[in-house]
Amino acid sequence: MEIDIRQGDILEAQADLIIVNLFDGVTEPGGATGAVDKALDGQITQLIALGDCSGKLGETTLLYTLGKLPAPRVLVVGLGPKDVFDGKKARVVAARAISAAKKAGAKRVATIVHGAGVGGLDPIEAAQALVEASLLESYEMPAQRSGNGDESGVESLTVVEFHAEAIPLLETGAQMGRIVAESAIFSRDLAATPSNIATPGWVAARALEMAEETGLDIRIMEWGEMEELGMNILLAVAKGSDEPPKFIILEHNKERAEELPTIVLVGKGVTFDTGGYSLKRSDGMWKMKYDMSGAANVLGILRAAALLNLPLHVVGLTPMVENMINGHAQKPGDVYKGMTGKTMEVISTDAEGRMILADALAYAGRYDADAVIDQATLTGAISVALGQQAAGLFTEDEALKARLLAAAEATGERLWPMPMFDEYKDYIKSDFADVKNSTAPDRGAGVSTSAKFLQHFTEDYPWAHLDIASMGWTKKPRPMYPAGAAAFGVRLLVQMLRDWNG
Ligand code: BES
Ligand code: ZN
Ligand code: ZN
Repeated sequence: MEIDIRQGDILEAQADLIIVNLFDGVTEPGGATGAVDKALDGQITQLIALGDCSGKLGETTLLYTLGKLPAPRVLVVGLGPKDVFDGKKARVVAARAISAAKKAGAKRVATIVHGAGVGGLDPIEAAQALVEASLLESYEMPAQRSGNGDESGVESLTVVEFHAEAIPLLETGAQMGRIVAESAIFSRDLAATPSNIATPGWVAARALEMAEETGLDIRIMEWGEMEELGMNILLAVAKGSDEPPKFIILEHNKERAEELPTIVLVGKGVTFDTGGYSLKRSDGMWKMKYDMSGAANVLGILRAAALLNLPLHVVGLTPMVENMINGHAQKPGDVYKGMTGKTMEVISTDAEGRMILADALAYAGRYDADAVIDQATLTGAISVALGQQAAGLFTEDEALKARLLAAAEATGERLWPMPMFDEYKDYIKSDFADVKNSTAPDRGAGVSTSAKFLQHFTEDYPWAHLDIASMGWTKKPRPMYPAGAAAFGVRLLVQMLRDWNG
């Protein structure tokens, strides 16, 4: 979808559909909506009086202009009550509007910015919200189909602003919105690509291309180097597959590492999770192509950090493996010693995410990090606990927790704190190693014990773990999250990074 910003009058827009808005409780619309109402002989006022157009948040009403305006259709979108309007609501509004425009069959759409004037939103934030939400809502997953692709979406969105002096601010906001949305879309595409294509090597090649485009520093560690580092827990997972593992290291502002705060982001990159010899049931197994969502997020966030030129040293670490079964594959009962020198016993080969993260978190100890945050589709148990309402947040660092929760609140990518009681350590005691990777057959506290396992391999840095298993693949669409790969966590962490220096 093409997006451009233009100075002018929305009444004159040459488009298939124009979007205006309405606060809840307004009976006589003003501004652009008032002007459209006048041009349509009071149609909007009349619909309000009838109760057919109420200004309720995200409600859309389609009108036909019957030659009274150059555009044949007008869409009125509800902003909700004025006193609670904010950036999150502006995103809901933009998402609802663009999807209603698509449903109406419009290809060229013109819109005003929601909530900047009387809404009280900063014009930069309002434009970011509009562009970000419109792009994310319009996302379609990559598909390999023969024949012509289905070109059913909105092709162009023109943001029309009457006041010339606001244009540069809107341009700035729109640019930010585009970077954030396109970075999340980059992540969504990686997670949605089938695993016969999206192998560890393929993902590394995409990361190389992206680094080239954005100026990020990149290094890809191969098997030999990982072996030299003693990453035998990670390699225990990798050795069951014919696809060679890759450990991707991306860095933004590497040359300024000494002077800038260092944030290390780690992402679980299992390009497909069969479960290994602790084989998964076959129903729903296809979705395990998104078991690399954590890694995909990290690559997207690094992309955004570079393009937004954030004044931070940001490091992305993504161990990429495929969890398969061959003659070399790990087996339950195996014991491996990882990079920290600590050992672990395999109880389930399906608890592979925590294994590859164990060595990645150990590697993160090489940076003098102000924070290390990992993201992983780690457990089915987090879905049982939280459903598709929030990702699980595990941390014992109160300052980092506050930063993450503030970003969650600002973006609507909700996190919920989960316990990391010391006693959970007892659940993963092993008779044969320092820890075991699963409590099976005892299934209690599956999420907290997974976090406790990770904690065992962390070094001395502020650390948080986000379990995004329930949020990585959207089942029931909601504004900005069409069904499928969600890249949940990209907007959240980009926000946290933007706010880092206060
Ligand atoms: N990739 C899965 C977790 C998962 C499940 C993600 C469903 C998304 C949707 C992970 O590797 C796994 O299999 N975890 C096991 C851990 C258990 C064996 C301790 C689980 O959750 O069952
Ligand atoms: Zn698994
Ligand atoms: Zn997994």
